[in-house]
Amino acid sequence: MTAFTMERVDSYRSAEELCPVARAMELQSFRDYLGSGSEKRVLELGSGNGTLTRCLREIGWTVDTVDIAFQAPPEARRHHAADIADGLGFLPKDAAYDAVVSLAVLHHVAACPRRLPDNLANDLAAVTRPGGILMLQDVPTPRVLPSLDANPDDGYFAAANTARIFAELVDPHSEPTHNGIYIEMAAIGAQLADEFAHLARFHHRCDWNFPNEEIAARYVQALFHLNLSLAEVAAVIGPTLQPAEPGLRLPWALDCLVMQRL
Ligand SMILES: C[S@@+](CC[C@H](N)C(=O)[O-])C[C@H]1O[C@@H](n2cnc3c(N)ncnc32)[C@H](O)[C@@H]1O
Repeated sequence: MTAFTMERVDSYRSAEELCPVARAMELQSFRDYLGSGSEKRVLELGSGNGTLTRCLREIGWTVDTVDIAFQAPPEARRHHAADIADGLGFLPKDAAYDAVVSLAVLHHVAACPRRLPDNLANDLAAVTRPGGILMLQDVPTPRVLPSLDANPDDGYFAAANTARIFAELVDPHSEPTHNGIYIEMAAIGAQLADEFAHLARFHHRCDWNFPNEEIAARYVQALFHLNLSLAEVAAVIGPTLQPAEPGLRLPWALDCLVMQRL
């Protein structure tokens, strides 16, 4: 069970207020796969502050959201306060979404890296219309990644850096919200294969952007609610920060699974 306290909710908000554009690239893969919604309906699992909700509205989707701890983002048409680990039984029986998405949520929900809770897996199929898209994105599992010796411009370097920041900063220096579980998307794809066809699985290169090193360290410290000084955070993230136009980028990548309801 996730441990999203009000304190944690506030720390998410303060990070996003500090640098609202930091995660802009994370949203690109959703734009690419979902395209213009022209009023089609998407269910967003774990909407948090609404970073993805805003993006989905901007590209024309009607967005229903669910979150265990956060209130409805203003862009949501309808919001459910619920624990998705128990499934999606709170939705209307005839819910038939054109897409179901989640960004950085499932590692808080699953009790095992290779399986979603059965109720959730069954309900994902029940609420997605035939032909609808399921797009799940989460922190890469460190088990399948190469070392950081790879080229810093390579997507695997970014994925390895994401995994390293979780291993060195988030897991040891933050109240646990995910029990150290890293979702293995290939196994989740196999779990869902009776009801969904495989479309794509990839490491989505989505570097975080910051105006300078201090904002980068403050952002990471706040977002993950780290029990560390700014200098300690900077010592971990500093060596991989790369010059960007403008500012700096922190190599980052998420593991993405895209499926289509049969
Ligand atoms: C890392 S945040 C990501 C928020 C948002 N998707 C984003 O990318 O900005 C994880 C979100 O999942 C929500 N969450 C965690 N466990 C949940 C559960 N069991 N049921 C519903 N929501 C959950 C949290 O409250 C939080 O908003």
